[in-house]
Amino acid sequence: MLEVVEDAAALAGALARVGERGAVQLVPTMGALHAGHEALVGAAAAGGPVVVSVFVNPLQFDDPADLAAYPRQLEADLERAEAAGAALCFAPSVEAMYPAGRPQVHVEPGPLGAVLEGASRPGHFAGVATVVTKLLAAVRPARALFGEKDYQQLVLVRRLVADLSFPVEVVGVPTVREADGLALSSRNGRLSPSERAAAPALYGALVAGRDVLVAGGAPSVAEAAMAARLAEEGQVVTDYAVVRAAADLGEVSDQAVAGELRLLVAARVGSVRLLDNLGVAR
Ligand code: PAJ
Repeated sequence: MLEVVEDAAALAGALARVGERGAVQLVPTMGALHAGHEALVGAAAAGGPVVVSVFVNPLQFDDPADLAAYPRQLEADLERAEAAGAALCFAPSVEAMYPAGRPQVHVEPGPLGAVLEGASRPGHFAGVATVVTKLLAAVRPARALFGEKDYQQLVLVRRLVADLSFPVEVVGVPTVREADGLALSSRNGRLSPSERAAAPALYGALVAGRDVLVAGGAPSVAEAAMAARLAEEGQVVTDYAVVRAAADLGEVSDQAVAGELRLLVAARVGSVRLLDNLGVAR
């Protein structure tokens, strides 16, 4: 069974045993591991020993019911992480992570924390930025891997590491999807059969928007195509369906000619809020 450590002191000892201290790879997760997380571990394993962290971070939940309902299944996670190639699991308790309770000093995510997901979930990205900072400080990895699935989080972590000078390389890993395009998520299990049937509309909308951009259409036209595809599905309530600059999620005008773009959607399917995104260069 994969070795688990539960606090920073035990982590330091275990990291010394794992060896290749300068090559440690960190995959931060909240557990309930699936093939998306496994892809991160697999990509990490090529670079050195992989530490998977499993910590359901209360700071990033704006809804206490959502925090309480978050799946916790460490035994199954250890098996998956080990099979995917992890060397160590860091699974601290809330008390070990936040011994003095809610931290007085936290990381303020700036403008990136206030748009899109941040607008829908106040405080969410401050919680993410704070816990990622603490994980980087505890593990001190050479590389940290994050999924493109949570694209805004990936962009924010890149910015965090640059702005606060963390000596770590941030690596983004492509989204793992079901055969029908639905991005894997621990939330998919909460969809009813009819909601599950409607959920691939998010990916369908992204593909429709990408097709517009690839054919030379304007971002506003791509956004309209995404909205139209989502509106076809009665059970899907769109939160946003937008085209943004890939590097910083800034708004793009229809006149701007070149650059990497990112299409991003968030929608509720029944009571489950789903996210997805896709990149395109033009
Ligand atoms: P969690 O939702 O558990 O996700 C952990 C990592 O897995 C994230 O980097 C996420 O983008 C990635 N991931 C999730 N689904 C994926 C998929 N279908 N394909 C590829 N990667 C996927 O994101 C968090 O946890 C937390 O915010 C965390 C960074 C751990 C901070 O608490």
